[in-house]
Amino acid sequence: MRIVVLVSGTGSNLQAVIDAVADGSLPLEIAAVGADRPDTFGVERSAAAGLETFVVNFKDYAARADWDAALLEAVAAYKPDYVVSSGFMRIVAPSFINAFEGRYVNTHPALLPSFPGAHGVRDAIAYGVKVTGCTVHFADAGVDTGPIIAQTPVTVLPEDTEETLHERIKVAERELLIQVLGDLARA
Ligand code: GRF
Repeated sequence: MRIVVLVSGTGSNLQAVIDAVADGSLPLEIAAVGADRPDTFGVERSAAAGLETFVVNFKDYAARADWDAALLEAVAAYKPDYVVSSGFMRIVAPSFINAFEGRYVNTHPALLPSFPGAHGVRDAIAYGVKVTGCTVHFADAGVDTGPIIAQTPVTVLPEDTEETLHERIKVAERELLIQVLGDLARA
């Protein structure tokens, strides 16, 4: 199984996947890592691991449709079986979803369908839920929508800040992502 991983940020989930592949516990090949912006830690991690790394910089494109087309072309070139959005902070175009229908996996730091969007952890705290968590799902053209593959609950502690809660969620998120990718790879 070949995957392309898309990142926007620090790439700690990506690092967990890289490590699991390296130690033999995750039977797949990371064909490439792509980002929507240059100079992120995620891109650095990927390059440091010797992986094919590409950037389709959102800011380089005057028209959104041109960026959409460039991203699709860049990812499709690697002929991945699955594309993994791991902290990739862009909604992709319907053309991308169509090209990778049922093969575009997203991770989200909340128990969907609760708290979709870019601030899932902050929104869960603001609402006052006592349990939140993480979701790995097949993404469709909506914001954090599409069939859920697996979820892990995480308890919200009274003293939690967005940062402390997100860190605990990310521990669960990494484990869940690796479990799901392993299941897909072994299927
Ligand atoms: C993850 O919690 C992801 O679900 C969210 O942003 C975080 C990405 O973290 N959207 P990292 O880039 O893998 O460190």
